[in-house]
Amino acid sequence: MCKILVLLLFSFCFFIVTNAIVCRDGFTLINNNKCIAFLPPYFDPGYSNSEYRCNWLGGNVVSIRTAIDNTAIAKLAINKGYLDKIWIGLKCWEDNNPDNCIWADQQGNASSYNNFQPGNPQTNNGSCVYMIPATGKWVSGDCDNVRFTVACETDIIGACTHKFGDYCYHPIVGGTNHDEALNICEQLCGGSLVSIHSPEENEYIRGYFIDPKITRIYIGAKMSNAATNYWSDDTDWDFVNFNHSNINDGLCYTMSTNDGKWNSINCGRSLPSICKWKASSSCQATCTGPKYREETGLITLLTSELSYNQYRGIPPCYYVLHVPNGLAAIWFNSLQLDPNSSIELYSGTSENSTLLANITQENQNDYYKSLTSSSQFIKLVSNQCNDNCDVTNDYSWSALFGPNYGASCGEVLYTRGVITSQNYPNNYPNNYNCTYYIQNPGGYFITIYFDHFETEENHDFVNVYDQKSGTLQYSFSGNCTQYLFGSEKSMRIEFTTDGRNTFSGWSAHIDLV
Ligand SMILES: *[C@@H]1O[C@H](CO)[C@@H](O)[C@H](O)[C@H]1NC(C)=O
Ligand SMILES: *[C@@H]1O[C@H](CO)[C@@H](O)[C@H](O)[C@H]1NC(C)=O
Ligand SMILES: *[C@@H]1O[C@H](CO)[C@@H](O)[C@H](O)[C@H]1NC(C)=O
Ligand SMILES: *[C@@H]1O[C@H](CO)[C@@H](O)[C@H](O)[C@H]1NC(C)=O
Ligand SMILES: *[C@@H]1O[C@H](CO)[C@@H](O)[C@H](O)[C@H]1NC(C)=O
Ligand SMILES: *[C@@H]1O[C@H](CO)[C@@H](O)[C@H](O)[C@H]1NC(C)=O
Ligand SMILES: *[C@@H]1O[C@H](CO)[C@@H](O)[C@H](O)[C@H]1NC(C)=O
Ligand SMILES: *[C@@H]1O[C@H](CO)[C@@H](O)[C@H](O)[C@H]1NC(C)=O
Repeated sequence: MCKILVLLLFSFCFFIVTNAIVCRDGFTLINNNKCIAFLPPYFDPGYSNSEYRCNWLGGNVVSIRTAIDNTAIAKLAINKGYLDKIWIGLKCWEDNNPDNCIWADQQGNASSYNNFQPGNPQTNNGSCVYMIPATGKWVSGDCDNVRFTVACETDIIGACTHKFGDYCYHPIVGGTNHDEALNICEQLCGGSLVSIHSPEENEYIRGYFIDPKITRIYIGAKMSNAATNYWSDDTDWDFVNFNHSNINDGLCYTMSTNDGKWNSINCGRSLPSICKWKASSSCQATCTGPKYREETGLITLLTSELSYNQYRGIPPCYYVLHVPNGLAAIWFNSLQLDPNSSIELYSGTSENSTLLANITQENQNDYYKSLTSSSQFIKLVSNQCNDNCDVTNDYSWSALFGPNYGASCGEVLYTRGVITSQNYPNNYPNNYNCTYYIQNPGGYFITIYFDHFETEENHDFVNVYDQKSGTLQYSFSGNCTQYLFGSEKSMRIEFTTDGRNTFSGWSAHIDLV
């Protein structure tokens, strides 16, 4: 009964919205053929900076091929309050000759339709072109030293932040195991881990991660137990680039970002990866709300996805996080908010849900800890700065979310998760004994990180045992904050308290590597 209720809620709240939206959040549909958004002037002057921002949003500076579109764009700009000059995606090389003006989408010149103000294009005044919203007229202007609003367009279905051929690509920068990565890709437009079909595509993917710390990533290649290679997205196995393929090293494959070669690896390792999906699939990509994430035990990495500067001018992004079993919990592992942004977290999806936290630059250091909702849901609203922003620094955030398993004793944790002492963050009971079991059959390490630890010293203990041998490995009491690295495949954590004095207890993140 409960499950049905949850599914109905899901359909009601999100499917309808998803189907109705043909433009990603922040973009407006005009004439049923273009999604348009205006991005206010960027800190760094120049057309190319604005173009870059449109590209980041999965689009381009707008190309205008009909009078109807031109009028609609001018009108929309006025409605949205953009009354000053607006860059359009046209560049010109010859005075008074629209034939020598090329559109940003690379598909032809402005001979068949243009709306230049008399005397333009005037290349002495610059090779870029801006529109004056009040008249809809186009005027030549400098590309480099000015800061104008820019009109971006994206396709009406889906949004690709990175496109190669007919496919969209999206990185999962935080490490996950192979199954989790597949799960995340599935949520991104029904995609899968990247399959690779040509040396060009291989190079495109290799060039994706500019972070030098990322030396290898999962790709969608996998070996069956019968030692046959296949792609997770079921496409043809028509291209290989192995350095090393050996079933004894595991059934999954990585690509080295150094030389693009593929190597066998155990699927339980935690690595970055890249998702891929058909550009024609109808879906919403980056920062198009509401983003619905449902977790059945895995913890997904959420990130601000774009760097802060690319987000300017975009309305709040929001996520609905759902944990079907247990209480939803979230853990920020990076928080660098700009002075004008905030992240609001609510204990549910309704407008009256309790505010769990309102994170800003001022208080962000207090939130490197888990926050647990009082329901199966967390609503996360990320409000970006839109105006008058600090653009001298780059800002971003990322978080994990998933079920909080701390609610009851005696449970086995098979995945990453959060466990806490009873009543946490309120005082734990006296004369209490609670045992948690952690199993990591596929991986190498179990990592425990206490983000809060306060028990009665030498009386109330957290004891960590190797489950197999039964040996006590660590024992904590008092005020501690600790990382533990255990090489065990299974662990037992016992919390025992005596009959006197109680404290706030502890909250621990368990990571399986
Ligand atoms: C401009 O485009 C038209 C067709 O749209 C084409 O006939 C013409 O050759 C093009 N001019 C230039 C200079 O490329
Ligand atoms: C070129 O720029 C100058 C100075 O801003 C302006 O006076 C002139 O009208 C512009 N030319 C055209 C054709 O718009
Ligand atoms: C190639 O495979 C060998 C093992 O066969 C490994 O030692 C080496 O690091 C691999 N090189 C790259 C670039 O992945
Ligand atoms: C939220 O609270 C207001 C005022 O108490 C109430 O009128 C409204 O129905 C509530 N909304 C929901 C979704 O519960
Ligand atoms: C969160 O904090 C920001 C910045 O102080 C504020 O503008 C916003 O209204 C707050 N949100 C809530 C729900 O209190
Ligand atoms: C953003 O923050 C700066 C201070 O860093 C402030 O001067 C500016 O007015 C803020 N902008 C908005 C839109 O609140
Ligand atoms: C706590 O409970 C476990 C399992 O029931 C038991 O093995 C252990 O001896 C108990 N510890 C204490 C200190 O009571
Ligand atoms: C832990 O440290 C805090 C602050 O120093 C102190 O108030 C508290 O009593 C300590 N708790 C224990 C159990 O020692």
